[in-house]
Amino acid sequence: DPVATPDISSCGPPDQLPPSANVLTCCPPPSSASPVDFAPPADASSSPLRTRPAAHSAGADYVAKFNRAIAAMKALPPDDPRSFAAQASVHCAYCDGSYSPDGFPGLDLQVHNSWLFMPFHRCYLYFFERILGSLIGDPTFAIPFWNWDAPDGMRMPAMYAEESSPLFDRRRNGRHVPPKLIDLDYNGREPRFTDNQQVDHNLRVMYRQMISLSPTPSLFFGSPYRAGDDPNQGPGPVENIPHGPVHIWCGDPEQPAGEDMGNFYSAGRDPLFYAHHANIDRMWSVWKGLDPRRHTDLTDPDWLDASFLFYDEDPKLVRIRVRDVLDMDMLRYRYQDVPTPWRSARP
Ligand code: C2O
Repeated sequence: DPVATPDISSCGPPDQLPPSANVLTCCPPPSSASPVDFAPPADASSSPLRTRPAAHSAGADYVAKFNRAIAAMKALPPDDPRSFAAQASVHCAYCDGSYSPDGFPGLDLQVHNSWLFMPFHRCYLYFFERILGSLIGDPTFAIPFWNWDAPDGMRMPAMYAEESSPLFDRRRNGRHVPPKLIDLDYNGREPRFTDNQQVDHNLRVMYRQMISLSPTPSLFFGSPYRAGDDPNQGPGPVENIPHGPVHIWCGDPEQPAGEDMGNFYSAGRDPLFYAHHANIDRMWSVWKGLDPRRHTDLTDPDWLDASFLFYDEDPKLVRIRVRDVLDMDMLRYRYQDVPTPWRSARP
């Protein structure tokens, strides 16, 4: 059977927090109504397409608008499910043991390290983006992606490094501000590469994870995780690398648990999280495009019918299934088309 999120009244204290974390609850504010089933934007033609831009090349107008949207989200009180604090808590709730899968009160629900990783984070970004757009009254608003797979995007995007911006977060690694190049398989130790070597290394890492290690859907998405299974059945190659290393590279090594980006419970507190995950989500669609005949979504009903709960922009509580988020056209967003030079970087 598919993993399902139970009613949020069953959301409890997160029991997988690092010992240093000072957090009592990650649960969303309660809803007086029961969740409604997700329905895609009714009429695709009247629902504008949102194009997510590459963060490093976004223009000043876009950056100003995005800053306004994040500032508005941060200004909402934490008991508003649309607030930045509540949005950040969503990640903690689904990653640090606030929920048990419906029917299995003794097990933790975990959206990482399995085939739920890609679809869960797609849903999370989808609602986050709609909330931002609604806060600034722009139904075409799209979040940026951190294009770390291409040489021009291999630095922390400048808009996030501006200390006076709501996109800034103090709990980051101070050695990794621009123009430092990211290391896509960072393991906590600084590599001794020249910039050219680092770019070349990163492109080969991308080739390895996206092509060599991801020839089939079951390899790409990660291990099955069904109702009643122990969590953490096994990540797919992209969840493993570069997803994990980019988190660790961003977080502050002076914080007890690598906060913010370096730990599940706190990662959503850094606005950079959503740009990182937009690129992870983009990798899902890029991977499908690499070989449309063989690179397909999974067809197992236990994947397709797995479901999560989110608040939308109204805010109302929505139950959304994996099968609802396989078609980006239907969700009315896409990614700016940018080069993928790693495709020819066979190691
Ligand atoms: Cu839910 Cu990047 O982790």
